[in-house]
Amino acid sequence: MDKKIFIPIILGTAREGRESEKAAKFVFEETKKYGFETEIIDVKDYASPVTWSMDPAIKEKISAKIKNASALIIVAPEYNHGYPGELKLFLDNFYEEYFYKPLGICGVSSGPLGGARMVEQLRMISIEFHMTPIREAVYFSSIKNLFDEKNNIKDPAYSERVKTMLKQLESSMRN
Ligand SMILES: Cc1cc2nc3c(=O)[nH]c(=O)nc-3n(C[C@H](O)[C@H](O)[C@H](O)COP(=O)(O)O)c2cc1C
Repeated sequence: MDKKIFIPIILGTAREGRESEKAAKFVFEETKKYGFETEIIDVKDYASPVTWSMDPAIKEKISAKIKNASALIIVAPEYNHGYPGELKLFLDNFYEEYFYKPLGICGVSSGPLGGARMVEQLRMISIEFHMTPIREAVYFSSIKNLFDEKNNIKDPAYSERVKTMLKQLESSMRN
């Protein structure tokens, strides 16, 4: 039987009351529906106060997950036109684990642009990690009104947008 393709989703903010968690859970469900294995790696669980302060045992565990991934997805909000600091602190713990992996980015914002400027910035640094950022991103705009009280997405167009990103990730994979 073919090995299942594993694409973890990094949730890139630890902010109290974060809305991005809803977007990450939505992307998680869509990724499973598409047929990939996935899990959410939540930076909140690994929040480091300074660079390279992650517990070595935890670091080894996450390192194995990233190595085992065929591609990566990051779901993160835009904070002052950039990515959250805790996301960068998390990402900087690893390097060779990322090599040659396609990266899909999902931006989140309360405004209309869906974190577009954050997506552009994250693409830039992903190149230093030898990742391959793909063109198809998903922009979760007006996030505060995008999900109902049961956390179901109100705009059905997002399923197709995530699928488009997953298709491009799939065609960019080396293994
Ligand atoms: C520190 C901070 C900076 C922000 N900067 C931006 C910004 O540059 N552009 C934007 O569209 N929204 C900005 N916002 C609003 C966020 O889009 C909004 O709070 C959204 O819910 C963020 O995702 P989160 O709830 O997962 O933190 C900012 C919010 C915070 C807390």
